[in-house]
Amino acid sequence: MRKEFSACYDLVVYQIYPKSFKDSNGDGIGDLLGVLSKLDYIKDLGANAIWLCPIFKSPQCDNGYDVSDYRAIDPMYGSMADFDRLLAAAHEKGIKVILDLVANHTSSEHEWFRQARSSRENPYHDYYYWAEEPLTDWRAEFGGSAWEYNEPTGEYYLHSFAVGQPDVNWTNPKVREEYKAIVDFWVAKGVDGFRCDVLDHISKDFEKGLDRNGPHLHEYIRELFGRDHLQDIYTVGEAETTEESILATCGEDRRELKSVFQFSHLAVGRKGRYTPVPHKMDEVKKILTDWQDFTAKHDLLYILLTDNHDRPWFNSRMGNDGALRYESATNIATMVYLLKGIPFLYEGQEIGCANSLFSDISAFDDVECLGYYKEQKGVLSEEKLLEEINFGSRDNTRRPFAWDASPTHGFTDASAPWLPYATRSDEINLASDLASEKSVWRYYRDLLALRREHVSIRRGSFKQVKKWKKDCFIYVREYEGEKILVVCNFERTQKITGLPEGRLLLSNVRRDGANGVYAPYECAVYDLTK
Ligand code: GLC
Ligand code: CA
Repeated sequence: MRKEFSACYDLVVYQIYPKSFKDSNGDGIGDLLGVLSKLDYIKDLGANAIWLCPIFKSPQCDNGYDVSDYRAIDPMYGSMADFDRLLAAAHEKGIKVILDLVANHTSSEHEWFRQARSSRENPYHDYYYWAEEPLTDWRAEFGGSAWEYNEPTGEYYLHSFAVGQPDVNWTNPKVREEYKAIVDFWVAKGVDGFRCDVLDHISKDFEKGLDRNGPHLHEYIRELFGRDHLQDIYTVGEAETTEESILATCGEDRRELKSVFQFSHLAVGRKGRYTPVPHKMDEVKKILTDWQDFTAKHDLLYILLTDNHDRPWFNSRMGNDGALRYESATNIATMVYLLKGIPFLYEGQEIGCANSLFSDISAFDDVECLGYYKEQKGVLSEEKLLEEINFGSRDNTRRPFAWDASPTHGFTDASAPWLPYATRSDEINLASDLASEKSVWRYYRDLLALRREHVSIRRGSFKQVKKWKKDCFIYVREYEGEKILVVCNFERTQKITGLPEGRLLLSNVRRDGANGVYAPYECAVYDLTK
């Protein structure tokens, strides 16, 4: 195993959407002191790192992914003093802090862009991409053309995402210096890592029509993170995930990123963002297995995840969020988090959160689904549109965390939060989960404890067992004689025989007398160590 990975394999990252985690001052918006007040909660669960989605000054056209000052905390979240307190408290509790670095674009309110758009002669003009006529026919991720006219200079600027998110011109060496200085600013404060937003977009090739993964991508990443003093910093990129590209970014001696997210298993069960398609968990199993094999072969870090702030709940799409919600949520957790890699959990996953059902578009805030709504209004019926948006909106996972069943769910003292609570918050909240015999939270806690206690789960090899057996995922993790067997049955009852005998370590249902028969979503973990 690569030396620099050793510490990474012990990480368990808990992703926080700051706006929706915990409000400390009664304005209905989550904030840094809210996060501070929940550090013990995160620790008790078993995570040892937090990733904070952007907390920097921002007009919030894309919930902070439009940064107007990279060195300031948005007042809505608190102050720099609050951040310093949070960082110190986290470190004291053994929790690392990972920030979100948004380097492909700034906010149109960023001082660089205000200057840049004022005149062609302005020294910041070259910090962005300009053209007298749109250079390409690219569509912006959040709707409309990717090129927006700018009156004062009589030019168009590029925005791969919202109009308020102009793309930064990384071919300009001054821009690269700026981002290096931003990274150094936060590292000097003591942060432990960065999650790098859409990092593959920072190099483009207009002639070849490439809006990402351009010819200078790797050179730029190395320039940013290859510097000696950053070699102990943890980095995970949101970037191109072809095998070739991952090798180029994370391969030994590349000095680029430690890891890159793989999202292919999260595309199962849907076409584009808004259309469900028939699916099988076996498809997910196949993808996970292929990545386990690939990352083992090349000694790469793999990220274990099912949820984040950009996707509706995995369990709602791929599992069962009805009568078997507990069984399915814990089964999925077992299947994914006992694999080799770094677990990333998203807030709310640990209580088995599920998608919402709203009947009015006013319950949504996300720039992406609102852009889609605008484009499709009149094309699709209102009912159909809402059905699609309920299924696919990113707001599903961005709703305020329900800590209890009270009217404000322990999230805030304000009468209403910034975004309506999930429609099932009365039923799905932390207090109710803990009061239940079937607690998703307690299962997650035990599962993460198992990872900590067994080196084979953290560092061991991965081998699939009964590869061709359908509707289940069975594998063995092994490290220097320690051997763990993981059995996850999917949605139908089936007999699974011929497995090696071992001591039961964990299961999501009572296993006694089961005689090889696994109920829907039943899973079990055995110690096979001789
Ligand atoms: C990433 C973020 C997403 C954001 C986009 C633009 O995909 O995860 O939330 O909207 O980049 O910054
Ligand atoms: Ca607040």
